[in-house]
Amino acid sequence: MRLSRAFPTPARPLALSLAVALAPLLAQADPAADPPADARALLTTKCGACHLPVEGGGLNRIDQSRRSPEGWDMTIGRMIAAHGLTLTANERLTLVKYLADSHGLAPEESAPRRYLLGRDFTRVETPDDKLVAQTCARCHSYGRIALQRRTEDDWRKLANFHVGQFPTIEIQQAGRDRNWWEIASQQIPKRLGSRYAFESEAWSDWLKHQVVAPTGSWRITGHRPGWGFYEGVATVAADGTDHFKVSMQMNYANGQQETAEGKAVLFTGYEWRATVRQGGQEIQQVFALTADGQTLKGRWFQPGIDSIGGTLEAVRADAGSMARLLAVQPAAIKAGTTQKVTLYGSNLKGEVALGDGISAKVLESTADKVVVEATAARGAEAGARAVRVGSAKLAAGLALYQTVDFIVIEPGQAMARVGANQGAMPKVPVQFESVAYAYGPDGKPGTDDDIRLGYMPATWSVDNATPYAVSMNDVHFAGKLDANGLFVPGEAGPNPQRKFHTNNAGDLEVTAVVQDGERKVQASKPLVVTVQRWNDPPVR
Ligand code: HEC
Ligand code: HEC
Repeated sequence: MRLSRAFPTPARPLALSLAVALAPLLAQADPAADPPADARALLTTKCGACHLPVEGGGLNRIDQSRRSPEGWDMTIGRMIAAHGLTLTANERLTLVKYLADSHGLAPEESAPRRYLLGRDFTRVETPDDKLVAQTCARCHSYGRIALQRRTEDDWRKLANFHVGQFPTIEIQQAGRDRNWWEIASQQIPKRLGSRYAFESEAWSDWLKHQVVAPTGSWRITGHRPGWGFYEGVATVAADGTDHFKVSMQMNYANGQQETAEGKAVLFTGYEWRATVRQGGQEIQQVFALTADGQTLKGRWFQPGIDSIGGTLEAVRADAGSMARLLAVQPAAIKAGTTQKVTLYGSNLKGEVALGDGISAKVLESTADKVVVEATAARGAEAGARAVRVGSAKLAAGLALYQTVDFIVIEPGQAMARVGANQGAMPKVPVQFESVAYAYGPDGKPGTDDDIRLGYMPATWSVDNATPYAVSMNDVHFAGKLDANGLFVPGEAGPNPQRKFHTNNAGDLEVTAVVQDGERKVQASKPLVVTVQRWNDPPVR
């Protein structure tokens, strides 16, 4: 392999080009307009100039690792930014597709770290390997590593790449608290070579798996923070091999309705990536298709503003497909009360059962929706109940409770970023929600037997979190929290109105108060308002 440059390329072009994630790539590429040449031939032409064949077949570095579609896109992005590779949008998509299909991850290999692909920005990670986390997850996520599989030798070359490309790395990440380079280049490749090995049974099994195309009709449900539950339908039609056209109709609990239309690509036989126009916005979908092809599940979000988005779960709705129950709304009922409950699914028919202590009178019944009047007995034991409609069952579909014992504010870790909506970096808001819980049998919060009762409306407030924040009057400058729990941060840049002319960052605390009959239940949570994220690669 030829090393193209002795010095690292300037940070800016690298950062900019890596911001070109799969979303714009899918939007730009038009496979029908310019049918790509055979993918392997393209790889040999484009990559083979630097990546030489190795003994036993394949190209050096390329055929010794496996990654997610985003992982491949990010590496190719670096080849473009750092090594001068040139590709059209179509060629790039062709190569990412080919590599993700032939050198991808099995569903069970990507499952634990899907939060990174779906850009769930609120997660605190739990690493599988403490030494790897301490050595490597200092500058980027642990999941970036756990979403790759390499030979031991290739993991070692990756360590070398780090110091070759970023010579100051050891100092930058305060690596001198230990013999960092020795650990990174010797112990870590050994561990990763066996923990995240290039060859795995899961992957060789997956390669034999017969892919089920996602074409057809789907019944969808999901949750969009701030707007609430939604339900609707989707249609997926073929648009070339593994390329699809998708259209969706979404009806939200808050009365809003949206349609979504766009294009999708199925990578690795299960990695659904779509760019759609939804409610006037460009939205990216990162879903996984189950091995049986019957369920599509994941997260969608606005590219660049990950916090604006929602979750989705879809099941087949074609005539003759399996009866499935997807969601129950509301998801909880108070003992001693009667309320209307709606069950959403597809091909529903048969007897409705809401579980012990809850009786049901069917008011309306169609294949995709059953409305019942539910009555929860006064003395019934609190807990989650399985809900059934004929053969379709939803475990923990409806929770019965006596009182709302505590509430938890979501998202788990709240971080907003200042920005300028007309500028290069838009503001990153945080949509807060309050989730009600009952203690469960042990009478304590924060334990495994807590009963999740679902989202409940709250009264929201925000204040300074620390004495320093008080002295800087952060709550006045860092942003505003609206009545629906949406926090919109302030403008980017130095603020001449502020002490020290500092920017509009802040250290805040958000409080929610939920009304449960006569009682008030309250919770608070830190909110960090920080600066823009200038370098935002496809896999953080
Ligand atoms: C101009 C030379 C050049 C071209 C063309 C090139 N590469 Fe690379 N590639 C390199 C160099 C140098 C490295 C080692 C340094 C690094 O990782 O950036 C590398 C490293 C890699 C790695 C290992 C990265 C890692 O994560 O450790 C992969 C995989 C890779 N290239 C894939 C490709 C693919 C796929 C193409 C074609 C689409 C390609 N390269 C084209 C020069 C090139
Ligand atoms: C000093 C910060 C820092 C540390 C420590 C660090 N990395 Fe990285 N890592 C980076 C940067 C910067 C990149 C390139 C990011 C990009 O391409 O945007 C990177 C890229 C990667 C990639 C993706 C490579 C590709 O081709 O896309 C992997 C995998 C990775 N690192 C694993 C590791 C492992 C394993 C360790 C520990 C041995 C480690 N990192 C330690 C900064 C760091």
